[in-house]
Amino acid sequence: SFAYFTIKDRLPQILTRVIDTLHRHKNEFFEEHGEKGVEAEKRAISFLSKLRNELQTDKPVTPLEDDLPDAALWNQYLDYQRNLSNGNGEPSWFQSPWLYAECYMYRRIHAALVQNPPIDNFDVFKEGKAQNFFESQEAVIALCTYFQELLKNIKDLEEKQVKEELFKLLQVSLCGNKCDLSFSAGGDSSQKSSPLQSLENMIPYILVNDMEKLWSLLVNAKKGNTEKSNVRIDIILDNAGFELVSDLVLADFLLSSKLADEVHFHGKSIPWYVSDTTKHDFNWTIKQLQSANHMWMSRCGINWEGNLKKGVWVYQDHMFWTLPHDFSCMAEVAPDLYADLQKSNLLLFKGDLNYRKLTGDRKWEYTVPFHQALNKFHPAPLCSLRTLKSDTQVGLKPGQGEQIQATEPEWMVSGKYGVIQSDAAL
Ligand code: F6P
Ligand code: MG
Repeated sequence: SFAYFTIKDRLPQILTRVIDTLHRHKNEFFEEHGEKGVEAEKRAISFLSKLRNELQTDKPVTPLEDDLPDAALWNQYLDYQRNLSNGNGEPSWFQSPWLYAECYMYRRIHAALVQNPPIDNFDVFKEGKAQNFFESQEAVIALCTYFQELLKNIKDLEEKQVKEELFKLLQVSLCGNKCDLSFSAGGDSSQKSSPLQSLENMIPYILVNDMEKLWSLLVNAKKGNTEKSNVRIDIILDNAGFELVSDLVLADFLLSSKLADEVHFHGKSIPWYVSDTTKHDFNWTIKQLQSANHMWMSRCGINWEGNLKKGVWVYQDHMFWTLPHDFSCMAEVAPDLYADLQKSNLLLFKGDLNYRKLTGDRKWEYTVPFHQALNKFHPAPLCSLRTLKSDTQVGLKPGQGEQIQATEPEWMVSGKYGVIQSDAAL
């Protein structure tokens, strides 16, 4: 299965890249911290080499030994896996659920750094994320230019035109999800061309397309909220680089078109799945845009910083997003986050990993309703914008999956297909 290939090949590749990255920064660590920096780098590398060996030789998964606030939850989760294995030995790398093993690797990478001050704040994936951003420059310029032109007369747009523009930007944001670095094991995955040019061609590849439902929800939320509180939309972010820019443009459009009054962004509190957005990436991206030598890019950056200052954009993170649990456990494991999401009018979940966590990463029949796969997770109306990069898919029409499978055996993992899929209760 794709899970096997990932654990066998892709994860060791990612670990090797992490080790190389640390090696390459040795001089920098020395300049910044002297011998202590170099010692820390050596310790982190030996920790990571051990981790790679454990993975490749299918050793049992071991409890975390650091004292970060989430360690106890991870260790409880391991106990739970042990109980599931019913005395059939310790859960090991190849004998554990894929989602768990993969999340666990990223958490151990984090431990390797965090336990080794003074390099404990070093994000081993930072360079790759920045590179993705710079390599997507043309696409970023095209998108920012298009958007700033649109803003010029946004007040005069008729409802039908607002809807059309929303649909375009939702598709750009979906398309942005192709640019993820864990999928390419850290290799190039930038957006080279303007994403706006090929939107029409993309339509046949959107297997579930609930944009009309989203539109109705937003229009009704606005009507229902004239005197009440704000319309709040939450975007559960995925990758930094071009995808993040596409999400920020979407968020700006939601405010500028007055479909929403505030947008909350949810990022990761630790480096995650190579390219996922942390607070640092979020702020860095906005600063890069601001200081860009291009009028429309920099206008976007300035406006977005303004939105954050005004409080109409809010960046949040929570450790739940980097736990191995699927989202049906959120109400129990992170009741504060669940309660916060309940205040939202719409939750937009970006990306493949979020989809796996929404659906419990199970091998569902393709026709199982999304609502059923969510297993009661419903803090607020929700929608997933995801390109398919793992073999879990629900909510298809009878025969739809089988038909594509017949001609394109890789359809679930190629990143070519996507969904804009809302839960039925929307
Ligand atoms: O290991 C692969 C994976 O978990 C896939 O599910 C997906 O390709 C990727 O990592 C994460 O994708 P995304 O950035 O869209 O969540
Ligand atoms: Mg990601």
